[in-house]
Amino acid sequence: MRHQSGGTLLGLLGLLLPVFIPSLFSPLSHASPSALSEWNAPKPRHLHLFKSAVERQSSDSVQNELWNPLSGQGLRPCILTTNTPSLPEKSQGYIQVFLDGGLNQQRMGICDAVAVAKILNATLVIPYLEVNPVWQDSSSFGDIFDVEHFIDALKDDIRIVRDLPDDFSWSTRDYYATAIRPTRIKTAPVHASVNWYLENVSPVLLSYGIAAIAPFSHRLTFDNLPMDIQRLRCKVNFEALSFVPHIRALGDALVNRLRYPSDDSRATAGNYLREVTDFTAKEAGKFVVLHLRFDKDMAAHSACDFGGGKAEKLALAKYRQVIWQGRVLNSQFTDEELRSQGRCPLTPEEIGLLLAALGFDNSTRLYLASHKVYGGEARISTLRKMFPLMEDKKSLASAEERVQIKGKASLLAAVDYYVSMHSDIFISASPGNMHNALVGHRTYENMKTIRPSMPLLGQLFLNKNISWSEFQEAVIEGHKNRQGQIRLRKPKQSLYTYPAPDCMCGA
Ligand SMILES: *[C@@H]1O[C@H](CO)[C@@H](O)[C@H](O)[C@H]1NC(C)=O
Ligand SMILES: *[C@@H]1O[C@H](CO)[C@@H](O)[C@H](O)[C@H]1NC(C)=O
Ligand SMILES: *[C@@H]1O[C@H](CO)[C@@H](O)[C@H](O)[C@H]1NC(C)=O
Repeated sequence: MRHQSGGTLLGLLGLLLPVFIPSLFSPLSHASPSALSEWNAPKPRHLHLFKSAVERQSSDSVQNELWNPLSGQGLRPCILTTNTPSLPEKSQGYIQVFLDGGLNQQRMGICDAVAVAKILNATLVIPYLEVNPVWQDSSSFGDIFDVEHFIDALKDDIRIVRDLPDDFSWSTRDYYATAIRPTRIKTAPVHASVNWYLENVSPVLLSYGIAAIAPFSHRLTFDNLPMDIQRLRCKVNFEALSFVPHIRALGDALVNRLRYPSDDSRATAGNYLREVTDFTAKEAGKFVVLHLRFDKDMAAHSACDFGGGKAEKLALAKYRQVIWQGRVLNSQFTDEELRSQGRCPLTPEEIGLLLAALGFDNSTRLYLASHKVYGGEARISTLRKMFPLMEDKKSLASAEERVQIKGKASLLAAVDYYVSMHSDIFISASPGNMHNALVGHRTYENMKTIRPSMPLLGQLFLNKNISWSEFQEAVIEGHKNRQGQIRLRKPKQSLYTYPAPDCMCGA
């Protein structure tokens, strides 16, 4: 079956081979042997575009334009709380939250928890991070974020404690998991209002001195909130949440190696903490971070066809059934319909074609922020052919350097987040929490961020006889205003994705 696609393809692209022995084609491959049975090697779906992309040239003026930082847009970060009373004289009790989701969803939950504690004049207990069933990382808040910095940055706004005092030590996750408890708030509606909290949580605080809210994700509205509460959320997200020192140090080492590749000391570096970082004399190179979430979960959820043939289709349909048990159905839409609606995540091949069409040439340093790519190196190799200077955590840091984050999805995501915040350009191949978090954070810092137009790309990729120049023209035109231009938050939208105007003021 695997040989169906013929010798020309194999010779031309060398794409089929890695499927048989993926581990030889590390560092980016994470394919497990069991994955092999489920597809034929994914073929490039857009072969003639791909050929043009590999041969592309890009003029200096296009390069300059691409890499130029964003110019000022008349807004700057603005989080100073107004002259409202800061700390309440007396705390009304303790607020405890239990947060689901991956790192970036938990991040929003943390910001909302601070806001809720402020609304209730309560003391916040450092949030409890649940183990996500997909990512399986048991890292605590303190394993990921700098607790001291967090408490200190917010000391004028709310009281925060690391742990509950002894009188309340009974209030644990296990206590709430085993029976119905009066101190558990279980019914917070999605996007609950300030009044909801005052009416439903204040009385519990008053009676018991503590309220444990779970579930808590997305449980505070973005609309009709006092300005100081919104600003406080901004302050938590953009100023108070800082990763633990070892994450920042590893992130800095990766950024340095991306910017100064010729001084690369990774071969000899036993310990990045000792790495000499006096690069002032040399010009820093630029790099793009590409966030590529293309794991099995996402591929299955989208119900799109990714070119892996019937075997892949069946495997994804089966996965949908096992994981979501009928809650996510095999789509009633065809692949074409899904694509033209922009509902399919871009494959590594497609995001590569987008970047190439935008004018990134083959000397572009690309950092791949990615946990796991469904299909492993077999899929990534198409992208690598367009961008040979592609790196990731694994290729840039030694095994010893990665030992503290190994196998920990939240810490791996934290490193990628940190590197993403230090890149010249950020682009994401699919919408999602990481994409939204970084779009928001980079807007706040006025940093260039390319937002792919999924419907446009879906339609372009469906047109099988489009020429490279037509494709390129349409891509450039369609992405003129998608490179970091500030979009103001609309009602119901998240302030963490659209920080203007709430977190920003006129320059
Ligand atoms: C919180 O404290 C402020 C003043 O310190 C007061 O005006 C407000 O009513 C209090 N809110 C609650 C829910 O206790
Ligand atoms: C980049 O493309 C040019 C022109 O097509 C080619 O000469 C060069 O070898 C390529 N560089 C890499 C690193 O592949
Ligand atoms: C592709 O090309 C063929 C033949 O040149 C033409 O008949 C067809 O309409 C084209 N399809 C699209 C989607 O442009």
